[in-house]
Amino acid sequence: MQKNIVTKNLTHITTKVIQLMKEHDEKITMLTGYDFLTGKFLDAAKIEIILVGDSLGNVIQGNETTLPVTLEEMIYHTKIVKRGVTRALVVGDMTFMSYQVGADDAVRNCGRLMKETGCDAVKMEGGSYVAETVRRLVEIGIPVMGHLGLTPQSINKFGSYKTRGIEKTEADQIFKDALLLEKAGCFAIVLEKIPARLGKKISTVLKIPTIGIGAGPYCDGQVLVTQDMLGMIEEFKPRFVRKYMNLAQDMKSAFMHYISDVKEGKFPTNDESY
Ligand code: KIV
Repeated sequence: MQKNIVTKNLTHITTKVIQLMKEHDEKITMLTGYDFLTGKFLDAAKIEIILVGDSLGNVIQGNETTLPVTLEEMIYHTKIVKRGVTRALVVGDMTFMSYQVGADDAVRNCGRLMKETGCDAVKMEGGSYVAETVRRLVEIGIPVMGHLGLTPQSINKFGSYKTRGIEKTEADQIFKDALLLEKAGCFAIVLEKIPARLGKKISTVLKIPTIGIGAGPYCDGQVLVTQDMLGMIEEFKPRFVRKYMNLAQDMKSAFMHYISDVKEGKFPTNDESY
């Protein structure tokens, strides 16, 4: 049974609504969006949160990692997504090195993202080293979503995208970081690629919602990269991605159909001409 007691008649989703959803046991849905039309379709489908993720570095820009994405590019994408959205909460992702230098720099850059795009909140990766920054941002009115477990901006430190928190020491650290981020004022935390039992423990202990990606079914919400769930990325097949369609195949066959129609003189017809 789909529960939507909190969000049923709402015309705008706020961070407070997201927190109320956890209290009322209503699952939170989040997907990524990087452009106007995707924002518009996600909003029409009544998704609660649209994340303008720095995964755009991979899926839009074709980079190996998320590291090259700049704050200017994030501002551009968040602004165009926001244009298509009236209801969903739009979260802009803080790019690599836009918040790590220090709290003052982070405040300035998060402020730019909020002010220049109209997004409703920011997301940043990391535990204890961002806690003070989170506290400062929340104090001045910038809602922050945390991100723990597999944190793709640290790929060069970890050397792989493997599951995090399998070993007890790392699991304990992720758990402690989650408590710290809650205390610092995060309104929600993304948990990426950790064992389901750790996702369950964090989700049970924390009062703020957890949003999982490869973190099992016990998180308060789920997120996927939209291009993954649409089946557009053929080479990427992690266990946690459910493909709701095979858009890569459909796009390629539509392109081929168009090419053969033009070559055979079947397009345009008189009806498609002036
Ligand atoms: O950048 C992104 O899309 C993300 C999600 C995978 C949570 O951080």
